[in-house]
Amino acid sequence: MISVALMGHGVVGSGVAEILTTHKQKLFSSLGEEIYLKHILDLREFPESPLADRFTKDFEDIISDMDVRVVIETMGGLNPAYDFTKRCLKAGKSVVTSNKELVARHGAELLQIAKDNNANYLFEASVGGGIPILRPINQCLVANNVDEIAGILNGTTNFILTKMINENMAFEDALKLAQELGYAERNPEADVEGHDACRKICILASLAFGKHVYPDNVHTEGITKITLEDVEYAASWGGVIKLIGSCKPLDGGMMDIVVAPMFVPCTSQLANINDVFNGVMVRGDCTGDVVFYGKGAGMLPTASAVVADTVDCCKHLKTRKRLFWADSTEENVADYKLSKTKVYVRAIADNPADAYNMAQDIFGAISRLSRNNCPENEIAFVTEEALPYGEIMNGVKSLSKLGAEVISTIRIGNL
Ligand code: HSE
Repeated sequence: MISVALMGHGVVGSGVAEILTTHKQKLFSSLGEEIYLKHILDLREFPESPLADRFTKDFEDIISDMDVRVVIETMGGLNPAYDFTKRCLKAGKSVVTSNKELVARHGAELLQIAKDNNANYLFEASVGGGIPILRPINQCLVANNVDEIAGILNGTTNFILTKMINENMAFEDALKLAQELGYAERNPEADVEGHDACRKICILASLAFGKHVYPDNVHTEGITKITLEDVEYAASWGGVIKLIGSCKPLDGGMMDIVVAPMFVPCTSQLANINDVFNGVMVRGDCTGDVVFYGKGAGMLPTASAVVADTVDCCKHLKTRKRLFWADSTEENVADYKLSKTKVYVRAIADNPADAYNMAQDIFGAISRLSRNNCPENEIAFVTEEALPYGEIMNGVKSLSKLGAEVISTIRIGNL
């Protein structure tokens, strides 16, 4: 029997307790031993829980218990999860987590502490919820140089965009519905402003390319400015708008990494990932594109990944899993303004014909887009040549100075 402890009995934590209970036999068959959930740390009371006798409010009960070999952290947030995780790892206990904020911020340091103490730190659930993605990158695709990772990494924003695309629902109404259905938090900022997706692409990039990528260094745009008009233009172009986190290695150890809404062509696998589902495309030099799809959030899908990591830690109590990346002391993220992309632009102009000519002078060849009931003074186009994003922004400013008021710019994803 291997004793484990759980810190945090919220949505994911209670799912973990449930799976450890309901799937006891299945887990026993895989591990050859029973996993015994000995302590559950939470400040709240759960008198109705069948595991009520295991609850504690005191972290010392876990850290001082020599029987506990694996600690599952599903508290979320940076503190006290960061402090507790460090203390567990320093005590030689392996730690499993779903906490993307913590891994994205302190992953390199925690992996080093785990290594120094011959413990494991696993966090499959931190990206893509129930979708296996970190282990495949780290193990199954290890023979590849990864040329790019791009994904729909946030279920809430994908749900909102899907409602906008399929049901012509305005952003505010779709957000309200996402909140009513329990997908979006009352304060939805981390989702709709792209911060959650940013943490996840940082974890993927750190793992795939071996150096910690800090979220603060990654240019991040959310979906709050996307309108139904933009959605319509994307359809007329032959695609859909998705919030994409993407990273590509550049020469010299630098990385081109961004989180932003993008036009995604209907031919791309990522265009067909709808509702709260997530999808991640890994472009390997041997495999070509490999796409992972599934539920990126929710109690049982996320808990499934946490429990799988727990089993893995139990199987490797004396050995270390080879999952590691180094800290990055110097800036390893390239200036997003240098990143080349094609772009969609929508503007209002008194003289649309002149405005299209000006756009051509500024951006080179463009493809005009149209939509039903388009106001006479509206123009929309997609640039045909990929230009550095900074140049595009300068071009947008020039267009505005010349009398065309730009109201939307969205990158075209090369996906
Ligand atoms: N808020 C996140 C999402 C939950 O909507 O995807 C999982 O990280």
